[in-house]
Amino acid sequence: MRIDIITVLPELVEPFMKESIVGRAQKKGLAEVHIHNLRDYSTNRWRRVDDYPFGGSAGMVMQCEPIDLCISKLKSERDYDEIIFTAPDGEPFTQPIANELSLKGNIIILCGHYKGIDQRIRDHIITREISIGDYVLTGGELAAAVMADAIVRIIPGVIGDEQSALNDSFQDNLLGAPVYTRPAEYKGWKVPEVLLSGHEAKIRDWELQQSIERTKRLRPDLLKNK
Ligand code: ADE
Repeated sequence: MRIDIITVLPELVEPFMKESIVGRAQKKGLAEVHIHNLRDYSTNRWRRVDDYPFGGSAGMVMQCEPIDLCISKLKSERDYDEIIFTAPDGEPFTQPIANELSLKGNIIILCGHYKGIDQRIRDHIITREISIGDYVLTGGELAAAVMADAIVRIIPGVIGDEQSALNDSFQDNLLGAPVYTRPAEYKGWKVPEVLLSGHEAKIRDWELQQSIERTKRLRPDLLKNK
């Protein structure tokens, strides 16, 4: 799949996309991430991409033109399945949305900044608005990085053991079971006996019970969605 990220801070996004699991996926040829500097599409001599809001409220608003020019250029080169805007007032980003987006061919993520973007871009160009949580970030770059990571890591072949992505917390609306590694005893703290038993069916059953118990205790709201 291909992800195009549009940002005023490419230098913030680039290292993450190179170094993380997203970088590994790109090296394996399983994903492509392209970062575009919105200022390259400014027609202003100072490369400005924002202006004062009509109506006189505080803060700056990202203008229509650079965003439209950038997205129009990308759309002239290929079709996009989704044009996403990162916004605190978007739909909450969840595992099912990550799963859904990981099946797409090409997506654009536009990172918001300042007070927001001109509403006309949201009305006419953006197909989906996504928030990564109920708090306000300075810009959408961290949200784009979070989304790219969650989307790319579940593309088959990206993480070594494909099974492990399926067992993640939130797949199935359940938190993951606790995990242990060697040694079997550390400072007298023991790994649950069942995990050392070699009895596959009992282990899977224990994991499921642990997942259900953890979800009931920590995130009962998830069980309501089941
Ligand atoms: N931009 C600012 N805050 C954000 C949030 N919570 N999610 C996505 N984009 C944002």
